Formats: sequence, structure tokens, C-alpha cells
Amino acid sequence: MAVISDHCPQIEVTLVDIDESKIAAWNDSDLMNLPIYEPGLKEVVKRNRNRNLFFSTNIAKAISEAEMIFISVNTPTKLSGLGAGYASDLKWVESSARQVAKYSKGHTIIVEKSTVPVKTAELIKEILMNSENDSDFNKKSFSVLSSPEFLAEGTAIKDLENPDRVLIGGEDYRAIDTLKEIYLKWIPEEKILLTNIWSSELSKLIANAFLAQRLSSINSITALCESTGAEIDEVVKAIGNDTRIGKKFLSPSPGFGGSCFKKDILNLVYLCRYYGFYSIANYWEQVLVINQWQKKRISNLVVEKLFGTVTGKKILLLGFAFKANTNDTRESPAIEISKNLIENGAQLNINDPKVNNKQIEKELSIKEFEENPLSHGSWNFERDIYKSAKNADAIIIITEWEEYRELNWQKLSSLMRKPAWIFDTRKIFPKEKWVDLGINFWQVGSPNIK
Ligand code: UDX
Repeated sequence: MAVISDHCPQIEVTLVDIDESKIAAWNDSDLMNLPIYEPGLKEVVKRNRNRNLFFSTNIAKAISEAEMIFISVNTPTKLSGLGAGYASDLKWVESSARQVAKYSKGHTIIVEKSTVPVKTAELIKEILMNSENDSDFNKKSFSVLSSPEFLAEGTAIKDLENPDRVLIGGEDYRAIDTLKEIYLKWIPEEKILLTNIWSSELSKLIANAFLAQRLSSINSITALCESTGAEIDEVVKAIGNDTRIGKKFLSPSPGFGGSCFKKDILNLVYLCRYYGFYSIANYWEQVLVINQWQKKRISNLVVEKLFGTVTGKKILLLGFAFKANTNDTRESPAIEISKNLIENGAQLNINDPKVNNKQIEKELSIKEFEENPLSHGSWNFERDIYKSAKNADAIIIITEWEEYRELNWQKLSSLMRKPAWIFDTRKIFPKEKWVDLGINFWQVGSPNIK
């Protein structure tokens, strides 16, 4: 929405949320306090805030004045009830649609932006159509479109400025044209794809499923490389040069994270089972099985290398965000790996340049640990990497933050308790770098090096 306000000064964009603290943060005069860290975002907000970009908790007023409403609420995986563990919880989409039904005036275009299971637009339509019939004094009417978002965190502004494509799904050509006009302000027409509403909804799930499948495929090969002597970078280069495969999105990792991939695949699996396609459901579910396997494999490997036990050992974990350039920790591989190591008795020092202590506490608070603190290890947040490295038995690089590449690794290695290990789960260094450091080094997808 900030990017729309940037390119369309004639459009007034108002963002509403029921969470007052979030809106207050978006309105904070100190732009360092914005709720989301995203490169370039604060500059866009600074340029447009209180010009044609507003943040408010007055939902009723904003809805009643809007000609177009983007529903961009979260759709997490259901934790209980029908479809628990797989289906998306649409309660926020539903309550937003009900609010739109209640407060809107005249004709309103609803754009479904949240990633949703196929046929959610139907649900929105049904709620809205009923309000069309109910209202006897306010003549209301609605058009529902689907326009899923394909931006990736950490590069959101760049992706929005120059998207590979924009999807608009719908039936009402006037509504489609109105939305298309907005995107045309900065996106070439050939990149704006028009589809039916269900193709649009399904395409978002499938795009994420394909991307995640690629990552599980490459991560599954890392173990094979480590055992056989092949080098994952060389394999990636060799296969990526085949233009049918392509070079992008093939970096090995400790497993993919983020709010979308797991949730969308679970959704796809649920959808397949719902329609009776059990083999297809099992096929896609394997992408998640491999992702889980990679995280477990890495934490087990750390324990094994440290003589089969990490009890009482000091381990420094570099990075908690699910990828670099974001403060988002949702589904980060760091969560699973930390929990496994703490369960094994490790004393973890966790560092991240953008994630704060509170966020890590939220992710790692496990009832079992709290009830039984003596049978497990512990963790604490540490800003000073050099201080944490003192007498550490291992350093594990989890997130590919640029600043980690620039650390004085010579100094860090000298501070550690020997025999010390460095585990590079992102392959951020060339392996030659480690030869002179006099410590043990493990790197994802590289044949065992010492
Ligand atoms: C993803 C999709 O890319 C985006 O199109 C969609 O709109 C939302 O979901 P996001 O989760 O923000 O975006 O980030 P992405 O860059 O896709 O990374 C997801 C995870 O995969 C991260 O944990 C990242 O570290 C990992 N990853 C990515 C790899 O392990 N290797 C890669 O080569 C790329």
C-alpha cells in the first residue's frame, strides 16, 4: 500500500488495523520504530505519510469512505477444529468481510490480497451479497477481485517496484480495469495478467509450492554431496546453467522458513485431500517432510560433531530471522534447531542484527522447558558476538546476514574453546577461508572438511 501511495499521489490510501499499538508504531515520528524492518520501506513511508498515506484504527470511517478495499489480513494454518494442521483459518478474512458489509457505502471493489485457499472469494461474495439484500437505506453493491501478492520479505520494495507479474482475477471488467489502472502507473501492461478468480487464488498456492519444492530438492542433495564428495555449489552451477532449470532460488540452507511456504503447501495438501487426490497430496507433503528433515539433520549433526553431547556446551547461533534483511522469525529454521539443541542440554547464545530478545522468547517459549528447566539447556540473547564467542565450543551460522561475512573470523576462532567447530548452514564463505583458522569447519553441501 505504501508503494501504491508512492506511485499514485492522486489516490488516498488508508491502512486500518484493530491493533492500536501497530497503528501507533506506523504513525511514530521515529521511523526506526516501524513494526516491520524492510529495506527501503521507511523512505517510502516517510515520503508519503500524512500526504496520501494514512494509518488509522477508525475502521468504520475508512471503510465507509473507500471505493476500493484490499483485504490483507493473516490466514494462519488452523490449529484446531475441521482441517486442523492443514487448512487456513479464514476467521480474519471473514470478520473483515463482515465489517466491509456493515460499513461500506455505494459501490465498493474488494480486492483479496491475503493468500487464501481457492474459493475464498466466494465466501467474501456471499457475506457481501447478503448485506446488499439486507440494507434498506444504504444502496450497497460490491465487486470482488483476487490479486495475490508475490513479494518476498527482505526485497519487498524492489519486488513491488518491479514485479515479474501482477495477477488480477475476477469477472467484473469495470472493477478489473479500475485495479489495472492503479498498477499501470508503474508496471508495464504485459506484466499484468488477467485470469478467472480461482486461477488467481490457486496460482499463488502453486507458485509457493513450486518454489518450496525447489528448495527441498536442493536441500535433499546437500546430504548426498557431503557424503559422496560432490560440491553443492558446483552441482547448482551445473544444473542452473540449464535454462529450463534456471539459476535462481537454488541456495542450500538449513531449511526454508517464512510465513508462506509451509502454510500454503499445507493448504494445497488439504485441498487435494478434499477433492480425493490422495497421491497428489502425499507428493506435495514430501516437500515439508524434507524441510523438517534438513533442520533435524543439522541439529543432530552438531551434536554428533561435538563428541555426541552438547550438554553444558556453549554454542553461538548467528541469525534468528528466517532469511537476511528481515526481522521476521516465522517458521525460521533457527527455531527448530535452537529447540533441538536446548533439548540436548546446550547453552545457546543467540544473535541477530534485527530480531529482538522478546521475539526470540516468544518463538522459543516451550511449556516443557519452563516446567522442567533443569533437564534442558538454556538460551540467552547476545548483541556482542565476540563476547559470546569466548570459550564457545561451536558457532552455527543460520541466517545469511551480510554483517556475518564481515566478522573477524580469525579473532572469533582464537577466542573459542578447542577443539572448536564452525557450522555454516548457508554456505556464506568459500571453504579456503577456513584452512588457516585452526578449527573444525562444516559447511552445508560440502564434502567433510577439517
Ligand atoms: C515467499 C515467496 O518467495 C514470495 O513470492 C511469496 O509472496 C511469499 O513467500 P518469503 O517467504 O518472504 O517469500 O521469502 P523467500 O525469499 O521466498 O524465502 C523463503 C525461505 O526460503 C527463506 O527461509 C530463505 O532463506 C529460503 N531460501 C530462499 C533458500 O533456502 N534458498 C534460496 O535459494 C532461496
